[in-house]
Amino acid sequence: ALDEGVTLKDLPFKFGAAVNVNHMKSRPEYKALIIKEYSSLTAENAMKIGALHPAKDTYNFTDADYLVDFAIANGKRVHGHTLIWDSSLPAWIKNFQGDYPAWKKMFESHITTIVKHFKGRVASWDVINEAFDDSGNLQNTIWRQHLGPNYIDMAFIFAHRADPAAKLFINDYGHENGNSRREGIIAYVKALRTKKVPIHGIGMQFHTRYNRGTSSWTKAINETAATGLLVHISELDISVNPDGVKGYVPTAERLAQQADAYKTIFKLYNAIPKAQQWGITTWNLTDNDSHLKSRPDYPLPFDTNYQKKPAYQGILDGV
Ligand code: XIL
Repeated sequence: ALDEGVTLKDLPFKFGAAVNVNHMKSRPEYKALIIKEYSSLTAENAMKIGALHPAKDTYNFTDADYLVDFAIANGKRVHGHTLIWDSSLPAWIKNFQGDYPAWKKMFESHITTIVKHFKGRVASWDVINEAFDDSGNLQNTIWRQHLGPNYIDMAFIFAHRADPAAKLFINDYGHENGNSRREGIIAYVKALRTKKVPIHGIGMQFHTRYNRGTSSWTKAINETAATGLLVHISELDISVNPDGVKGYVPTAERLAQQADAYKTIFKLYNAIPKAQQWGITTWNLTDNDSHLKSRPDYPLPFDTNYQKKPAYQGILDGV
């Protein structure tokens, strides 16, 4: 455990948050909390496909540059999220008409333009997000429909060409939720490595729940680390109301269970080889800005008033 007086910036690995640019601009406490506690930032939405590339020949980097400039000014690493996904797609991509060469050209220029724009400022990318189904097979995304399963290889190759120094991740959810998903992802990544595709890490979203169970978390983290690649817990939050009970307010007991879950996950992560630790990023900062807020849920280490919850101490106790 770390001494009193430290912040989560002082953890032995990067501690990140998904941050919302609108909140950064309008909520001083929100911005202050980012500065105080986090050493890595991911854009909650500002670097998604629809945000950055709203029309075929139009890119909008305004919000993303605000975030990246802020991060650099405050000494924080930036993790890019996400180049290719089947969600947050703008209409022009959903409706894109073209044969294989046209799709490939569009795909390549999307990836290349964005990665080059942030070259040297964004340390790592979720090149691919949520490409797998629960059986561990590739989903039939719009990209796969037009480019074939090889779209994954191509995305990494194009991103690597655009910024050879950036660490490239395949990001997905549910590694801790059943075996087939995780095993499918790991096998796929190993095959990519065998083919010399430039992939450097596995992003585990880790949208989990207080009672998922230590053995699920252990298997997810240890089996992913056994690949020898970088491991990023990329979107951690720990639900205390997974069944979505209306009007749910967490008891002290439930918050203690949540703190224990945070402790377990940070401890497991702290035990993997240092060289593979890209960091742990929570999805949002506080229970007030959580994407699960309306469930209602309280999944983060800070409460709706930006104050530390028991989970904060759970994190400190884990490392
Ligand atoms: C979510 C954001 O938090 C929401 O604000 C947005 O409306 C939808 O996307 N997995 C991901 C993230 O990879 O990009 C998602 O973020 C949460 C689930």
